Amino acid sequence: MCSIIGFIGNSRAAPVVVESLKKMEYRGYDSVGIATINSGKIMLKKGVGRVVEVNNQLNLMKMPGNIGVGHTRWATHGGVTESNAHPHDGCKKNIVVVHNGIIENFREIKKDLEQHGHIFKSQTDSEVIAHLIESNLVDGKGNIKKALTKTCTKLKGAFAFVVAFEDGSIAGARLDEPLIIGLTNDGYFISSDVLGFLEYTDRAIFLENKDIVIIDKNGMNLFDFNGKKISKQITQVAWELGEIDKGDYAHHTIKEIHEQKKSIEKAMLQDNERVNIFCNTIRSAKNIFFTGSGSSYHAALVAKNLLSRFGKIRSEVIMSSEFQYNLDNIDKDSVIIAISQSGETADVLQSIKIAKEKNAKILSIVNVHTSSLARLSDCYLGINCGPEIGVAATKSFTGQLAIFYMIIDKISDNATRFVDNMKFFQEIFEGIIQLEGEIERIAEVIKDAKDIYILGKSLHYPIALEGSLKIKELAYIHAEGIAAGELKHGPLALIENNTAVIVLNPEDETFNDTLRSTNEIKSRGAYIIGISNKEDIIFDRHIKIPTVNKSFYPIIEVIPIQLLSYYLALKRETNPDYPRNLAKSVTVR
Ligand code: AGP
Ligand code: GLU
Repeated sequence: MCSIIGFIGNSRAAPVVVESLKKMEYRGYDSVGIATINSGKIMLKKGVGRVVEVNNQLNLMKMPGNIGVGHTRWATHGGVTESNAHPHDGCKKNIVVVHNGIIENFREIKKDLEQHGHIFKSQTDSEVIAHLIESNLVDGKGNIKKALTKTCTKLKGAFAFVVAFEDGSIAGARLDEPLIIGLTNDGYFISSDVLGFLEYTDRAIFLENKDIVIIDKNGMNLFDFNGKKISKQITQVAWELGEIDKGDYAHHTIKEIHEQKKSIEKAMLQDNERVNIFCNTIRSAKNIFFTGSGSSYHAALVAKNLLSRFGKIRSEVIMSSEFQYNLDNIDKDSVIIAISQSGETADVLQSIKIAKEKNAKILSIVNVHTSSLARLSDCYLGINCGPEIGVAATKSFTGQLAIFYMIIDKISDNATRFVDNMKFFQEIFEGIIQLEGEIERIAEVIKDAKDIYILGKSLHYPIALEGSLKIKELAYIHAEGIAAGELKHGPLALIENNTAVIVLNPEDETFNDTLRSTNEIKSRGAYIIGISNKEDIIFDRHIKIPTVNKSFYPIIEVIPIQLLSYYLALKRETNPDYPRNLAKSVTVR
């Protein structure tokens, strides 16, 4: 996870590279570095911090030269330090490399290279790529293609890297990490994400695993890891670029929470034929498995419940990071439904690769249409919520749920009538956003809590899990989602005077049971924040949501918790867009 970018063209590279890194910074933000090539000389600057900070300190934008590479890091090997920041060079300082991923055999490669006199300056796995390419180039020059194929076949793990050579060429290669070429009239980009170049061009080439690209003054050439020349189609990429902007909002996160008024409607913009294929594949499956990570996993838990309740279809949810250990029943008659915002989450991609090897069919619900997941699926449906930049999933989560309501209705003869209710959702969401002031006040009251618990039963339980994830990542408060009935089996021991507990309790079949559990914790002194359409004297604070068809409560009740998490982050002075230690797109396992 991290962003890599390379640019070669007629314009000065540094400003282009810095702007591209700003757009892709959500992928990792531990450190920043760029290198440019000017008159056959490499210039390299890097530092710890965000792009704007490092640029201010080091004047990155001013670096000369029309060839450049850049990186924002999410550290996997080696601390967050200047020396571990990318780009990395070799001993001769005639090449620079930026890398996304993990080189699993870096220790043995490093040892071998050290025995041949190479001196390493960082603790990263990535630095071996630079030294290896250097050692594969005779006298630091020689055949770049040969050096790259030799290097790529030696590396184990997952990587996408871009390398710039002193002679003015630039190259990239990928294995299980994304890498995309952007073609402009002015030059070429090699980037982790289309967002890195979309401001300049919508013409892109999506590299596949084991592809290498080399660009020099004579143009661009593509090869596979065996050195065989290949050709690739140019794809036209469509994104609404304007949406990357924060607009008048203080943070992407709050903008994206507000956008939910519109984004669930956009999730309904689907190609009918695709939806039919999707639904027929579900209907004809012997076994159905959902998979996803983090919030997408929570969306899958809701989907499983709805599929059973309304479609009378049994399915299983397997967390993507656990998928490889649960393969016993996956075969050619199985359907895997992968859920992901980015479509690049390594755990998800690995799960579907294994499932494909077992000849299972792959369906996916994914926001990024150009992602690896979309391309690897037999059929995918786009969430269509536009770029989600805030690290916390908000509008993509409700978009995923919306698509699932739509699918359930197709499968179950319109059981929830989700699409028919669409016009009310805008009003309902608007109404919840109006509660922002009250939610901010509640955040003020509980901002110093050490722990926050969220209770919910049945369809509300996945939202309790999702809510606790939001609070953890945005506000750095320990939070736990608990199935309300499980309290008495242990967690009740944690409740003390003033422990903050959020109770998801709209009026449905869980109402009385959850109220009973709430009484049990209230008697032990808990401070109760009720999220319900119905008032109750047991609530110390009440976030009143509207009364809706009871199957829709999950998609509605999650919004007050998103808002609460956001305001908790502000009160605790953490940056909600870029939580510490995290990255938006988790492309490592
Ligand atoms: C959610 O708020 C998190 N940032 C994270 O759990 C995320 O949902 C997870 O990494 C999965 O990402 P994906 O949907 O892009 O696959
Ligand atoms: N493994 C490399 C490092 O720790 C790259 C991590 C990344 O993808 O940002 O530097």
